Amino acid sequence: MSLPGNLASAAGIRLGMAGAALGAAGRLAVRGGRAWMGDAAGRGARIAALLGATDTQRQAFALLRAVAPNLALSRRLVAAYDNTGTVIVTRHADVTEVLERESDFAVVYEPKMRAITAGENFFLGMQDSAAYTRDVAAMRLAMRREDVPRLVLPFVAQRAEAIVAGSGGRLDMPQDLTLPVLTGLLGQYFGTPGPSSAEMAAWTTRMFWYLFVDLRGEEAVTRPALAAAEACRGYLDGVIAARRAAPAGTDQVLDRCLALQAAGVPGMDDLGIRNNLIGLLIGLVPTLSKACVKALDGLLDRPVALAAAQAAARADDDAALAALLWEALRFDPVNPFIYRRAVRETVIARGTLRARRVPEGTMVLAANLSAMHDPIALDRPQDFRAGRGAEAYMLWGYGMHTCFGAHINQAVIPQMLKPLLRREGLRRAGPVDGAGTPFPVHFPLAF
Ligand code: HEM
Repeated sequence: MSLPGNLASAAGIRLGMAGAALGAAGRLAVRGGRAWMGDAAGRGARIAALLGATDTQRQAFALLRAVAPNLALSRRLVAAYDNTGTVIVTRHADVTEVLERESDFAVVYEPKMRAITAGENFFLGMQDSAAYTRDVAAMRLAMRREDVPRLVLPFVAQRAEAIVAGSGGRLDMPQDLTLPVLTGLLGQYFGTPGPSSAEMAAWTTRMFWYLFVDLRGEEAVTRPALAAAEACRGYLDGVIAARRAAPAGTDQVLDRCLALQAAGVPGMDDLGIRNNLIGLLIGLVPTLSKACVKALDGLLDRPVALAAAQAAARADDDAALAALLWEALRFDPVNPFIYRRAVRETVIARGTLRARRVPEGTMVLAANLSAMHDPIALDRPQDFRAGRGAEAYMLWGYGMHTCFGAHINQAVIPQMLKPLLRREGLRRAGPVDGAGTPFPVHFPLAF
């Protein structure tokens, strides 16, 4: 495009952002007013529910992207990890900048990772280091990309279809479908089924909540998570010792870890295997269950997209189905932001009008939800438009710590939902209910 063309396009996008910010401000004022009015006793809960709703967050980010793209607050919004204040980063270019600058903006999870393992860190809690490379490299050998089509996908497809076929046209999605299939995958693919499906689901969910979601560091979240960690460690220690005593030589992750141990691969002693497994199990179960529920919930809100997903599922067109699911998750991802702490004083978006000085110790919330709706990076992000390029999506992180399970996610979510979407008359039989947790516990469906 010519310079005048570029100027006109840049001005048009920014005018659009200003208009969207005005609309968002109005909507936020109305919703905030409604939450404030009514009985004072329920006010706190109403405001918390409003702030937790993804649609509210999208409106707030539309406002921030236009008027305060890198908003600095002296308040510590994340109390669960040491920090000196908060910067909320909302533009796509700045979110990616923060997540790329790993040496300036570090992961903070180490103390909680050590509490979970009763000792060592797990690689998501590490900065770039020899230990990080050692553990990721070893686990990539134990969990290979070619496993996804060969081992993971067929298991999920078969189990999900069997559950839906046997449900009699009604099921509670997390309890009957996603959690049993995912804990089943832990048994089938990892070799760690747990004492029961229910216990594996509860342990991994409690630990995930404590590590990543509980920003306030609540005792009521910490205590059950540490009890779950202790139980899970004990279980894994037993399984590892038993399998080492009687190797099965299968393609299961556990057997592969023990083969690496036998070959003398560093970091693969029993404790190393256990700590790596615990991190991966936590990463898999609650996240994938929540993503499946959110993706389907998003489709059920959009009849045209739902019909397209049903057609794709019936035609076995996995690519078309996946494109619709990623677009649904773009509006309602599992996590709206990723947090990092500034290792030293630095500047975000240097050389621009929105440059922001970030003092050492600041918690930086890199809002991936906002980045995926930034009109400077995406064409008409407010439109539901399946088939955007992969770079439009930041559903499982970005940069060095991008999700280790990304290829598993891309295979599992469509396979889990396909049997439901193939059925006639799929509809909600109740709302998504977290039962007081940040994860879907109930989502009744009928078809
Ligand atoms: C829809 C499901 C999932 C979502 C939404 C999700 C989300 C994420 C996000 C946002 C990150 C980056 C965290 C950060 O940078 O602070 C991440 C990293 C990670 N995830 Fe996932 N995840 C999912 C599934 C999985 C699965 C299935 C596994 C295990 C097989 C897994 C294991 C991990 C690990 C080990 C990391 C750390 C990677 C590293 O430090 O290099 N996740 N995930």
